[in-house]
Amino acid sequence: MSIDLSTSYMGLKLKNPVIIGSSGLTENVDNIVKAEKYGAAAVVLKSLFEEQIMMDINSQKMNNIFDTYSDVENYVGYYTKQHSLNNYLSLISEAKQKTNIPVIASINCSTAGEWTSFARKIENAGADALELNIFILPSDSTVSGIENEKTYFDIIKAVKAETNIPLAIKISHYFSGFAKFATELSETGVDSLVFFNRFFSPDINIRTGKIISSHLYSTPSDNGMVLRWAGIMSKKLSCDLAATTGIHDAETVIKNIMAGAKAVQIASVLYNKGLSEIAVILKETEKLFAELNISSIQDICGISAQDNITHPAVYERSQFMKYFSDSGK
Ligand SMILES: Cc1cc2nc3c(=O)[nH]c(=O)nc-3n(C[C@H](O)[C@H](O)[C@H](O)COP(=O)(O)O)c2cc1C
Repeated sequence: MSIDLSTSYMGLKLKNPVIIGSSGLTENVDNIVKAEKYGAAAVVLKSLFEEQIMMDINSQKMNNIFDTYSDVENYVGYYTKQHSLNNYLSLISEAKQKTNIPVIASINCSTAGEWTSFARKIENAGADALELNIFILPSDSTVSGIENEKTYFDIIKAVKAETNIPLAIKISHYFSGFAKFATELSETGVDSLVFFNRFFSPDINIRTGKIISSHLYSTPSDNGMVLRWAGIMSKKLSCDLAATTGIHDAETVIKNIMAGAKAVQIASVLYNKGLSEIAVILKETEKLFAELNISSIQDICGISAQDNITHPAVYERSQFMKYFSDSGK
């Protein structure tokens, strides 16, 4: 039986659904070449941060005002930032030269500021697509959810005015009306939504009282939240969907595609086991396809989405009451 793992994701033709998620794994060309060798279908580069781009824009403004680099601090700041932005653009073009897989650039952002003009440089450097990791922690007690959500739409509008490459929006699930919000995002002309970003979580060292970061890498159980929302939303969105967080093996790749994801993005499992795990996951995916008599991604994409199953309410079951009342019987 011939098995076809290819998929189309945000207008890109991918040889299989496994993309390396934005992380330190994709911040140098050697790793990207290795990822391709092990079978990765595409990479999302390590994110640039809006702040990095803004520092560059601001230093250029300062330099224009003084018309000189005589202010040493300013020069150093300018040089450092310019260097890192230029490095990022070089990373894009070098990755394009040395591999044949799509290279998706990434920017972490939270405002629709001047940084959005940088999207054009990313396109000119040869990126096949751009992923925006937008996150506004709703921690400001004077800002409403609606105001925060508006920023997402403002950012998309500003970035779309600068580029024509496919655009993905990586989001969290921290929205009070998630289904409506995600549907509206998908109707802005973006090419994909990525469910869900993973965050550094705070932890407390009980001996020093210091706040430290914890749980850098996901565990397989973290995928439940993604699976639920991919299943509920995939058929309702007007764009593609990619799943990320907690995808550590072939079975989970297949589940997320059955829920409606066109592709998956993985990082933690590769930090834990090395880039060669990409090949293991792909081989196992083919094996499972053969065992389950599946010949292509299209055969299964979305078959378990909420709109396609007999009991759609199972995706919305969220309380443990029945589970606890049944226990011990
Ligand atoms: C060490 C590390 C660095 C990451 N850096 C970024 C980043 O710069 N931008 C981004 O959008 N996501 C970043 N992520 C999130 C990953 O792209 C991915 O979405 C997330 O880790 C969930 O996938 P996983 O469960 O396979 O790790 C990072 C994740 C890790 C573990």
